[in-house]
Amino acid sequence: MDFTGRDFLRILDFSEDELRYMLVVARKFKEMKRAGQNHKYFPNKNIAILFEKTSTRTRCSFEVGAYDLGMGVTYLDPTGSQMGHKESIADTARVLSRLYDGIEYRGFDQSVVDTLAEYSDVPVWNGLTDECHPTQALGDFMTIEEHFGYLKGLTLAFVGDTRNNVANSLMTMSAKMGVNFIACGPASLATSDEMVTKCRPIAEKNGCTITVTDDIRALDGKADVIYTDVWLSLGEPAEKWGERINLLKPYQVTMDLMNRAKPTAVFLHCLPSFHDLNTSIARDVHEKYGLSEMEVTDEVFNSERSIVFEQAENRMHTIKSVMFLTLWEGGNK
Ligand code: CP
Repeated sequence: MDFTGRDFLRILDFSEDELRYMLVVARKFKEMKRAGQNHKYFPNKNIAILFEKTSTRTRCSFEVGAYDLGMGVTYLDPTGSQMGHKESIADTARVLSRLYDGIEYRGFDQSVVDTLAEYSDVPVWNGLTDECHPTQALGDFMTIEEHFGYLKGLTLAFVGDTRNNVANSLMTMSAKMGVNFIACGPASLATSDEMVTKCRPIAEKNGCTITVTDDIRALDGKADVIYTDVWLSLGEPAEKWGERINLLKPYQVTMDLMNRAKPTAVFLHCLPSFHDLNTSIARDVHEKYGLSEMEVTDEVFNSERSIVFEQAENRMHTIKSVMFLTLWEGGNK
């Protein structure tokens, strides 16, 4: 396996063994961090992190991960660079790769991060696009494996808007890792046939299945993990709330829904989450539509079955693993 100099753009670009190895390295970094063990392998490297959308977990994970590895970081916010306005994506990539050793990008169209990678001489890491969220899936699978002690044969059910970028990466990662994947949500928001067509042969090879359904009963006695995400993704217009609530309310993760899954099932969410009225968006939605919790109830979110904060922490360990493996030039790891 050789990761050096490679981009991390989508889960599909990596083999099963490579993805497993990323999780092994992430676990090692978690142990080192917990033990307070120095792992500043790259004191002479610097990275740029470009965000065209807001972020807490992904930004902080790249920053803390980079600091822990001894690197310097430049954060460019949606208004902080010339890219796309006064300078092409290709030229931005050519400039940044002269100055930095790695580039992270979060934005809209997958073609932007693909173009950055094409014109950059240094690794480019995808921090979320409309198509996928690969570092999220890596952190999620680290969390699931930590909890159950294994991955192969488990069943992960993504409930809600199954077209979204997180669901796409989870489906791909499930297929690669031998985890059965159920995409359960309204038919009008169903994941694309293209994604399923790409993932099914991989799943078959790895002895697992991909199910796309609008029937919540598909979870009954099967799901080991129930996963959901917000009903309106970053960048979608607020006017869509009413329509989304009507479509997705039957798929809200309640304790009743959790009880359909296996008794040992856990709850995951990529966060942020609208499980109470402690955010301005949730209060706006409450005022307009009368809903005081959305994709997941507060009861489930705060229950013992919810491992969302372990999951949030693991974003950092897995992102650190991706940065380390793609930047390491020192031979055997
Ligand atoms: N899950 C996730 O990507 O969180 P942020 O949007 O805060 O980075």
